[in-house]
Amino acid sequence: MPPLVFAGEARELTRSLAQVGAGEAFLLQAGDCAESFDAFSADAIRDKLRVILQMAVVLTYSSGVPTVKVGRIAGQFAKPRSSPVEVVEEVELPSFRGDIVNSIGFTAAARTPDPDRLVQAYHQSASTLNLLRAFTKGGFADLGQVHRWNQEFVASSREGRRYEQLASEIDRALRFMKACGVDTASQPDLHQVDFFTSHEALILGYEEALTRRDSLTGDWYDCSAHMLWVGERTREPDGAHVEFLSGVENPVGAKVGPTVAADEVLALCERLNPDRVPGRLTLISRMGADRIEAGLPPLLAAVRDAGHPVVWACDPMHGNTFTSAGGRKTRHLDDVLREIAGFFAAHRAEGTWPGGVHVELTGDDVTECLGGAEAILDTDLDDRYETMCDPRLNARQSLDLAFQVSELLRARH
Ligand code: PEP
Ligand code: CO
Repeated sequence: MPPLVFAGEARELTRSLAQVGAGEAFLLQAGDCAESFDAFSADAIRDKLRVILQMAVVLTYSSGVPTVKVGRIAGQFAKPRSSPVEVVEEVELPSFRGDIVNSIGFTAAARTPDPDRLVQAYHQSASTLNLLRAFTKGGFADLGQVHRWNQEFVASSREGRRYEQLASEIDRALRFMKACGVDTASQPDLHQVDFFTSHEALILGYEEALTRRDSLTGDWYDCSAHMLWVGERTREPDGAHVEFLSGVENPVGAKVGPTVAADEVLALCERLNPDRVPGRLTLISRMGADRIEAGLPPLLAAVRDAGHPVVWACDPMHGNTFTSAGGRKTRHLDDVLREIAGFFAAHRAEGTWPGGVHVELTGDDVTECLGGAEAILDTDLDDRYETMCDPRLNARQSLDLAFQVSELLRARH
């Protein structure tokens, strides 16, 4: 199959991430926990892009810091699992590992891995990426359209109204520039955005099949996405997944959880970025709101003192998951925001740059995470709980998060 992305685009993302590493930009990495074969539609892709564009415009306008936009999209199909099996009413079956491997239904047939799914995931990634390219370069992401990114169910909320106000200020600023004689029509940056794709590089057979030698430089690139990361469960410095990522030139990420030691983090830096290329490596901490303030600063100090030019991003989702009284896997927006605040505090203490956030969200009006201005409660979780894997922020909660992060960024800047 043809590659999905071009090596030159991956290099461009490395350059943008180098700016993040230097404290001159902020990374917004966001999307589904797991994309699904069933929930595949143009509307779902558009709505996810909309909320990411909204968040990015909030971050950029409020803080004055450019936002690098990377989706967990167009390839995020594989899930690492804590347990290889799932037991329901004394029936034991293999765990669901994402649509690229098996199916979510609780039957032996559904849970049997099917290699045709690799091909289906590839085709869905290609169509998704095609639509994303059309939306981001073809007018939908034009800054003149900021009002249209606000979906109806968002616009009526407190954060939706706050967004409307900000969008009106942007309109006014654009009119002002035009009145001053700036030819806004011919400024491409006002009419299109750069949007990159990423996913966890979990299924090495799939990633290897899409790894190609770049004809311009002779270097190897994993052309399944612009950026790839290794998860908390597969990040051993001498393991297969890190070995694979060490051999491609894409920008790469590694999740680091609450149990990671500073020397393991340094080993990852050495393995994944021995040449210390700025923008090459993003470390994504996912400590949990209660553990970040103690756990992160020693890592920041160790990496800083070793002189490794990493981007630090905060995944405030995966360390804050719990099972609700009703038996749903969920997260509370307050914990998510508390972890981000702890992330900023840790960076302030160490004199390092809080480079970005990595979140699981959807553009839909789901009820998967608790809290937010509309106060989703435990008893609401059953209403629209649609995720294939982990609970995602809905569009309102996501916008709320963007406003809170922009305030932290403004204070920092
Ligand atoms: C994820 O990002 O969906 C994930 C499984 O994260 P982690 O590897 O940090 O647990
Ligand atoms: Co997840």
